[in-house]
Amino acid sequence: MTDSSETLSNLLHEQRRFEPPRDFTASANVGAATYEQSEADRLVFWAEQAQRLQWESPWSEVLQWRPPFAKWFVGGTLNASVNCVDRHVAAGHGEQVAIHFEGEPGDTRTITYAELLEQVCRAANALTELGIEKGDRVAIYLPMIPEAVVAMLACARIGAPHSVVFGGFSSQALYDRIVDAEAKLVITSDGGYRRGAPSALKPAVDEALAKGRTTVEHVLVVVRTGQEIDWVDGRDVRWAEALERQPAKHEAPAHDAEHPLYILYTSGTTGKPKGILHTTGGYLTQVSYTHHAVFDLKPDSDVYWCAADIGWVTGHSYIVYGPLSNRATVVMYEGTPDTPHRGRWWELIAKYRVSILYCAPTAIRTFMKWGSDIPAQHDLSSLRLLGSVGEPINPEAWIWYRKVIGGDRTPVVDTWWQTETGAIMISPLPGVTSTKPGSATRPLPGIGADVVDNEGRPVPNGGGGFLVLTEPWPSMLRGIWGDDARYTETYWSRFPEQGYYFAGDGAKKDEDGDLWLLGRVDDVMNVSGHRISTTEVESALVSHPRVAEAAVVGATDPTTGQAIVAFVILRGGGDSDEGELLVRQLRDHVATEIGPIAKPRQIMLVPELPKTRSGKIMRRLLRDVAENRQLGDVTTLADSSVMDLIQAKLPTAAAED
Ligand code: PRX
Repeated sequence: MTDSSETLSNLLHEQRRFEPPRDFTASANVGAATYEQSEADRLVFWAEQAQRLQWESPWSEVLQWRPPFAKWFVGGTLNASVNCVDRHVAAGHGEQVAIHFEGEPGDTRTITYAELLEQVCRAANALTELGIEKGDRVAIYLPMIPEAVVAMLACARIGAPHSVVFGGFSSQALYDRIVDAEAKLVITSDGGYRRGAPSALKPAVDEALAKGRTTVEHVLVVVRTGQEIDWVDGRDVRWAEALERQPAKHEAPAHDAEHPLYILYTSGTTGKPKGILHTTGGYLTQVSYTHHAVFDLKPDSDVYWCAADIGWVTGHSYIVYGPLSNRATVVMYEGTPDTPHRGRWWELIAKYRVSILYCAPTAIRTFMKWGSDIPAQHDLSSLRLLGSVGEPINPEAWIWYRKVIGGDRTPVVDTWWQTETGAIMISPLPGVTSTKPGSATRPLPGIGADVVDNEGRPVPNGGGGFLVLTEPWPSMLRGIWGDDARYTETYWSRFPEQGYYFAGDGAKKDEDGDLWLLGRVDDVMNVSGHRISTTEVESALVSHPRVAEAAVVGATDPTTGQAIVAFVILRGGGDSDEGELLVRQLRDHVATEIGPIAKPRQIMLVPELPKTRSGKIMRRLLRDVAENRQLGDVTTLADSSVMDLIQAKLPTAAAED
């Protein structure tokens, strides 16, 4: 957990309350009565929400629950791409802007729903021409450009599950994901713009495919930067050419509600990332409903910006499927917040008159650090709602967000969910809920969540424990790709008697019963809202020839929430003279193995690691060291002098980016 108990008790005594503004409540999409309606009959409630979508044929049963396997809207058929695009055009909204794209260098593209439809149809035809059939997996490794959205919707259209791999992942990570999903096609680009310069992407695909045999037949390449790239004739195909020669229309087939929509890999407690599987009907129902209810989207007047990357679940659910199914006008920005200057986001909000902003606490804390005078130079008066996601938001950041960005008038919704849940599960409703800075408040209508003790008993108000989900929900993961046993073991074996889904998060209930999410209770770190497992980084470190053993912990960090700190024992003993250089090499090695996001903030070269008598590394003690705290109880150590040895060696070379 990220908070010490002292901060925690401060948190829980947070007295500030913010009522929804009266005019917001008056015109809110969802009112207080929804809670009672959903409690009266959960399945009826979800069936009503599913009716917001366009179905080709009706379902016969809302939920078929054979724990832990669920089927929602059994027998119903629909097409996710039709729901996100065609039906809006058919209803006369073809001229509405679907995407305002802003490239990092300042180039822009405005794409209407009619244009998006044409692009998606051409792309669907191109995929078919490349031999992609229903059920085939397609890896998408792209920067934040509109083609990423088009590619996802084209896959959804023909029923080929996509597996989007974050563009910041290394070629090794890409290879692992291609192999696990047995992808037949990779969609990538020559590169993208990052921090004021073109950065390459295609070489990582070439490298990945050279690592071993894969099932990939073609690589579809978007030209974004025009930089020189290697070309494999016969395998590589240019996106623009492939689309150009296609008809602008495509007859979308209806897919079963349970047809796989996508796989998205996320870190678990072991080294191997899990391919989280989402299907079509239930997923689309819940992302669409939650986007409508939590963000209060008014399709005719709002401009909505979710500043996540398409490579994470937030991008899937709240840039693509949720907003587009609700006919939102979305802003999509390619680059970093400080290129070419630290006011870029606020400039974009003023330019596009953004009314709803959704981002992560890490970004908010970074902006706080940069100073309130920067947003103050821009007109942010169009904003009417702010959202937060990905990690616990500290009250100070919450208040700053509301005050400095939201002009003290916008509701703030802190939304808790996971890759596995597919959609928001715990969040205030902006026109209904009285909010508290730092609390995600309560489960959304139709969702069952609780905080339980070790035995699975609900804790009373004021108590803390593990967050569980008590009822199946429409957008729940349907499994881990190719590994049902791991699915059952990871999520459903912690509280088998009660049949609860174990989220892996610690949580508290305050005196009013509101929920406060406290961070992971397993070996998963949360760095800038990104999930990284300690074992994944440890495996990367020990794959370096100089490393004999490594232990990794997530240490509290004022900006990124947690930061990766590694303790490393060198092979053949370390020489502190070479320390600094080696530490740099090891950090780079982790970036090559996983991606720059997994680079440890600090690596300490140590002679020993603290272990229990059974050989388990005591990360708790390492966390104490990493956070510069007094050591906790050392009595269970096999050799209690180890900590003296480690501390005598510190501080060693620390590296900052
Ligand atoms: O620990 C919780 C944290 O992020 C984890 C899920 O990570 P991921 O699957 O990458 O999805 C992130 C975006 C949905 C959770 O187990 N988390 C997410 N949202 C919050 C949060 N922690 C506290 N408050 C939140 N609002």
